[in-house]
Amino acid sequence: MQQKLGALLPDFDIRYKAELVYEINRIKKERGAIILGHNYMEAALFQTVPDIVGDSLELARAAAKTNADPIVFCGVRFMAETAKILNPDKTVLLPAQKAGCSLAASITAEDVRTLRNQFPGIPIVTYINTYADVKAECDACCTSSNAHKIVESFKSQTVIFIPDEYLAQNVARETNKHIIFPTKDLKITTSQPNFEYTLIGWHGKCEVHEKFSVDDIKNLRSQFPDVMILAHPECSPAVVEHSDFSGSTTKMIEHIKKTNAPRYVLLTECSMADNIIAENPEKEMVRLCSIRCPHMNEITLEDTLNALRNNQYIIEVPEDIRVRAKKAIDRMLEN
Ligand code: 13P
Ligand code: SF4
Repeated sequence: MQQKLGALLPDFDIRYKAELVYEINRIKKERGAIILGHNYMEAALFQTVPDIVGDSLELARAAAKTNADPIVFCGVRFMAETAKILNPDKTVLLPAQKAGCSLAASITAEDVRTLRNQFPGIPIVTYINTYADVKAECDACCTSSNAHKIVESFKSQTVIFIPDEYLAQNVARETNKHIIFPTKDLKITTSQPNFEYTLIGWHGKCEVHEKFSVDDIKNLRSQFPDVMILAHPECSPAVVEHSDFSGSTTKMIEHIKKTNAPRYVLLTECSMADNIIAENPEKEMVRLCSIRCPHMNEITLEDTLNALRNNQYIIEVPEDIRVRAKKAIDRMLEN
């Protein structure tokens, strides 16, 4: 642990965390559990207890493959739900009850049914950052690393893309498509002349990524002229356009590993910079420390230990919803 975390944490803190890590690993082995850890987990957790780390697509793929039981998901609720949808007979544990997501909270299953009625016959793609009942109403899921591939897989002139407004705009820009946002009374039919828009979005936003602005980028560039700026696709299209690279959390990490810029900054949840430094101490990261995902930050080593000790908090998905949501997830995993 000292080797992995020595560049970030003082020894006494590492000693304290080491006791937790030892106990987590002991119970994990005893129970035959697997721990999946999202790239946003704090360094002391990310570098120690997960068997598999990654972005939301990689973790969904890992959940689809694992034989271990229980699955402890060090991430947020929609990710743990995805694991449960893929593993109905296993116990899936989310270490903190409050680990939600502002995007997942921005749309309901009823909203999707309304969209379906408004735009009959048009495929609906949902970002994986939604709850199971929303996924159950959709035709496919996607993550930021495969969004445009999934949208294009429908071979449909028009696709509804929910719930992230900025991700939808970024996908529209990447695929050279128009985008519209429905208002309550908007009526559109595919037979309408000049029906040229191909993405229909929704006004959901990530409370973390919406905070970054083009002014922040200008300030960064004037303070650090040689900085390479990487933005998550949940940032606004203007921020993505002014950045040097945009991609999922894993794609950002990979890009830093394979390039040699004098310094980097990540426009995303700030724990990721610590995780990159821990593994690549030779990389110079400009670190932000005020833009945090309050939901991801709910998950700590202490919570993870309690999850394994007390079998908490068990994720349940009603069977009728699970079966329908799984179809949308399977379509994502097949592509
Ligand atoms: P990734 O799929 O890039 O890991 O993103 C998940 C997420 O919630 C980013 O805010
Ligand atoms: Fe949700 Fe944003 Fe947190 Fe990701 S960073 S889990 S999208 S609130």
